[in-house]
Amino acid sequence: MPKKKVSANTRKKLERSAINVMKNAHAPYSDFHVGAAILLTNGKIISGCNVENASYGMTNCAERTAIFSAVAQFGPKIEILAVAVANDHGVACSPCGACRQVIYEFGPDAIIFFQGSSGPKQAHITQLLPEGFRLQ
Ligand code: THU
Repeated sequence: MPKKKVSANTRKKLERSAINVMKNAHAPYSDFHVGAAILLTNGKIISGCNVENASYGMTNCAERTAIFSAVAQFGPKIEILAVAVANDHGVACSPCGACRQVIYEFGPDAIIFFQGSSGPKQAHITQLLPEGFRLQ
């Protein structure tokens, strides 16, 4: 259980931000548009979309776009309370392994809201990423 609970109202706001930012995705290769929104301990919601590249491996997922943007805006001391992920195919879509590790860096107690295989789901980051790596 996370130490801080996210209200139903805040969860809705977070999910709406994730849905809204999906339209900005640059996804000409997969045609899979993703939006993510993160809630910080300072109360701010920051969103991001996936940004693909002709050199496919350079693709940045929506979750990491949101997190890197938050660091650029507020600095490295940000703490993530919650993450919401949305996609335009209405299919299951949890953060990929790389994004789980990046979420863990800034949100070791974060709760993630995403589309599971049988509907909306929530999970603690340590359920998605057991034994996450930390240097400090
Ligand atoms: N993608 C995300 O942005 N977030 C996820 O949680 C899963 C996958 C993106 C990466 C790529 O642009 C597209 O979805 C297809 O894999």
